[in-house]
Amino acid sequence: MTGQDILLAKSLLEGGKLVGIPTETVYGLAANALNEAAVFQIYQVKNRPFFDPLIIHLHDFEDVYRYVREVPDIFVNMAHDFCPGPITFLLRKNDLISDLLTSGSDLVAVRIPAHPLTSALLGMIDFPLAAPSANPFGYISPTSARHVEKQLGDKLDYILDGGECSVGLESTIVGLDENAENLVIHRKGGLELDVLESYGLPLIVKDVSTSNPTAPGMLLSHYAPRKALYIRGENDVSPLNYSQRTAIVSLVKDDKNPHSFGLSENGDLRQAARSLFATLRMLDEHPEYDAIIADLVPDEGLGKAINDRLRRAAHKS
Ligand code: TXA
Ligand code: MG
Repeated sequence: MTGQDILLAKSLLEGGKLVGIPTETVYGLAANALNEAAVFQIYQVKNRPFFDPLIIHLHDFEDVYRYVREVPDIFVNMAHDFCPGPITFLLRKNDLISDLLTSGSDLVAVRIPAHPLTSALLGMIDFPLAAPSANPFGYISPTSARHVEKQLGDKLDYILDGGECSVGLESTIVGLDENAENLVIHRKGGLELDVLESYGLPLIVKDVSTSNPTAPGMLLSHYAPRKALYIRGENDVSPLNYSQRTAIVSLVKDDKNPHSFGLSENGDLRQAARSLFATLRMLDEHPEYDAIIADLVPDEGLGKAINDRLRRAAHKS
């Protein structure tokens, strides 16, 4: 069932049930983070391996202190500037947070989502919401209630419909390295990296080429459609890839090519981020196409996160 009844969502979550929730980044598959049985259900429903830890969502940053041992100053400053918003912090957890939720890590991922419905819901409950993206493990993340309904509808008691996600890419995940000398970007996402450069620590960006992922969302193959996806100029060598039955996705549509699909009207990267996952889903379901070729977008601003998702979608493990 889909709707906007936050009181219903609240009572289901209090009863240990799973609810689809909108956020500004992507839709989440939410449960009470302090209820281990409910958290276990999240892994089951998503078919997600237990080594891939979950993010907890809170109403505002002040609430974070209830679940972590400390918050480094740099994150206090960033939270001041970007929360609520598309940024997730890795912080040392306290004993209220289970090992199941963090996959045994001493760190818990925390974020304050910016969506009015989910914010209102979080303001009414006294526990954090554990919520991975509401898609089967490895598939394209959902950016509308319809996407969630289509894939997980029969496994969820309720989906809060908050319209289309305004950012469209998962949150940017930040942590510190062992000696707290560098800011480590574990996942490029909806907050541009450029704005994180002025907080006094050098940035280390974990890339798609990282061979030994520390964040499992960094798995090389992720966010992937079922159809083969190739990146032009990287792994599209076979001329067979260019056929009538191949769709081409680019930042801006090529009006001369009937098989071309644009992510934006005028090359705006924010608009492209918003439409990326919906476009890939649409082409994955499109009866006229067997394969997808994607053009990388300019590697600046949100373009870095878009290219990251495209490369992972293209990777076959
Ligand atoms: O925008 C988002 O972050 C969305 C919305 C729903 O909030 N959530 C999301 O969750 O993308 P999910 O489960 O699809 O990705 C969570 C990723 C994990 O795959 C992992 O890479 C990272 O967060 N993560 C979580 N806890 C971690 C930890 N303790 N150490 C390292 N990485 C962690
Ligand atoms: Mg995900």
